[in-house]
Amino acid sequence: MADPMHFDRLASGYDDARPPYPAALWARAAELGALRPGLRGLDLGAGSGQATRVLLAAGLTVTAVEPGPHLAAELRRRHPEVEVLQTTAEAAPLPAGGVDVAVAATSIHWMDTTVLVPRLHRALAPDGLLLVLRNVFGDEDVPVTPFRERVAEVVARRAAPRARHGLQDLARTETDLTASGLLTTVSVDEVRWSVDLDARRVRALFATFSDWTPAEVEEVADAVEVLGGSVTEHYRSWMLTLRPIH
Ligand SMILES: C[S@@+](CC[C@H](N)C(=O)[O-])C[C@H]1O[C@@H](n2cnc3c(N)ncnc32)[C@H](O)[C@@H]1O
Repeated sequence: MADPMHFDRLASGYDDARPPYPAALWARAAELGALRPGLRGLDLGAGSGQATRVLLAAGLTVTAVEPGPHLAAELRRRHPEVEVLQTTAEAAPLPAGGVDVAVAATSIHWMDTTVLVPRLHRALAPDGLLLVLRNVFGDEDVPVTPFRERVAEVVARRAAPRARHGLQDLARTETDLTASGLLTTVSVDEVRWSVDLDARRVRALFATFSDWTPAEVEEVADAVEVLGGSVTEHYRSWMLTLRPIH
């Protein structure tokens, strides 16, 4: 079973290992009115603060919810101006109508949305927004690269498909978050991008994936060396924007 504390054990290196969300998605969030100075932001499953720092730079005040003690400590150290709640999104005390912009960046799939959605509905201001982002590491629409063949070989060798946690894709996430009739979709945005990674960066990034073992990570990092020391990875990122129905 995937372990939500996996990320906390990597707290000090997590930020460097994970690529940031594409600027185009944040530009879209700004267009939707989510990044205006003075708004009250809430970063759910904030990790090392990839979304928190965008909200801060835009002039929002930010409350960050992060259950991992080491990640919560990192957040406090990096962003002393942020209120950090070391708890789960489902348990966090959220004042009624006290949130203008809630963000869940590659984190909603760890949460029990049957608990979270009614709580968020109450916490969001009437014109508030929920931004659900996800970096998808891989792009099925791009022809398979030699490196991706090696990744597929490692995954195929697993005795049983490893339990991935909860909601993984955009369509299922949207269906799940709107099922209660409390939230409705405002916008769905998607960006495709690529990045060149050397063996060190592949090792660091794949180690952050909660369903990869250390031996599997070493195997794909070695594959990068065999393939010339650098590989181009094709990724997709999406942002689902919702608002509360009143
Ligand atoms: C893949 S990381 C993403 C971190 C960060 N949002 C980012 O985009 O880099 C998932 C995060 O969700 C947190 N998490 C796991 N279960 C959670 C829960 N029930 N409530 C809030 N956060 C949770 C983990 O501790 C971890 O920091």
